[in-house]
Amino acid sequence: MSEKKHLILGIESSCDETAAAIVAGGRQILSSVVASQTEIHRKYGGVVPELASREHLRQIVPVVREAIEEANITLREVDAVAVTQGPGLIGALLVGVTYGKVLAMSLHKPLIAVNHLEGHVHAVLLEASSAGREPQLPALCLIVSGGHTILYHVSEAANVTAEVTDGRFFRFSYYKIGGTRDDAAGEAYDKVARMLALGYPGGPIIDRLALDGNAQAVRFSDPKMTGNPYDFSFSGIKTAVLHHLRRNQSFEAEIETRRQALAKGERSADRLRALSSAATLDLVASFQRSVVSNLLSQTFAALVQYPARAIFVSGGVAANSELRRTFESESAHRGIEVFFPSRALSTDNAAMIAAAGYAHFMAGDRADSTLNAEANLPLSGPARPIIGP
Ligand code: KG4
Ligand code: ZN
Repeated sequence: MSEKKHLILGIESSCDETAAAIVAGGRQILSSVVASQTEIHRKYGGVVPELASREHLRQIVPVVREAIEEANITLREVDAVAVTQGPGLIGALLVGVTYGKVLAMSLHKPLIAVNHLEGHVHAVLLEASSAGREPQLPALCLIVSGGHTILYHVSEAANVTAEVTDGRFFRFSYYKIGGTRDDAAGEAYDKVARMLALGYPGGPIIDRLALDGNAQAVRFSDPKMTGNPYDFSFSGIKTAVLHHLRRNQSFEAEIETRRQALAKGERSADRLRALSSAATLDLVASFQRSVVSNLLSQTFAALVQYPARAIFVSGGVAANSELRRTFESESAHRGIEVFFPSRALSTDNAAMIAAAGYAHFMAGDRADSTLNAEANLPLSGPARPIIGP
């Protein structure tokens, strides 16, 4: 094997982050630039697709340039361009796909199409391996963000044409065990935060306020799943929070006070905490307990039918402190390792796209000028995993 570490330029624009990164040899991040649009979408309490596309158009060129400069390389030294093909917002994806395509063609470099969800899986592999903590596969990977709540069984596709270099496989297979039927978990956090006037995004502030509340105070029933028992559903709990607020008029005044504070730009956790009653703290703590215990119980229930050697949790909600604590203690109890990427790699970034792209590059996968963005691009491997005793 040659000593040269291939340099992959990753480009990501599936939602509200414009990102570019240079990753060497699939493991070493030379640069990772993320231009977040949170400030633009904040006043709407969620991502506005039209505004997201416009902002990607403004940001894509400077973000790629910055990634190249930070990595201290020239564009000509890049060995391949890996770009997120989907899933995501179509107008947002098109910006990255079109730019990546033109760049690869003009540089005469290979173009690699990457599924965004595969990127989240590789965020875990990338960071764990660069920290010398190589995860064992197969793994169950829970991707939990503002746009997704999906549980995959991830394995090395050794029975397909697997390429092994440097002890590593470059073909993976992904089997979707379950997914959300309605809202993503992060979306539920954002919507509940909006109802309570706690600002956007909702996850970090609810995570903080929940520390001071009683998680047993409000009882939410678990979603009833017919069909696939490993699916998720979060719209029921969101509606239950709404009904709880309607039944208890006492919430109205403090919600209005916080709304005014947010309008004045007062959105620090300390300020919002000071403007929240014990009843609000109890409500958010109970909401969080219900969401996190559902994510935990679905994942560990799946482990019985889909045995794995590690658990990965990736996506923006993986930053949640209660989620980390409960997954860590349950994993220790069951004798299985759990991996969370750092905050920077949990949320959308292009290093994970470059890392996933590297595996495809090494496996010989190439896209061409017909590559098109796909809003609902599925991530699925060759087959249902073969689960043996
Ligand atoms: O992965 P991400 O940055 O963007 C996409 O959705 O693609 O995830 C953002 C989501 C938001 O819904 C946000 O509320 C949630 O992740 N989030 C959290 C926390 N930090 C971010 N949810 C719960 N607890 C957190 N600490
Ligand atoms: Zn994502």
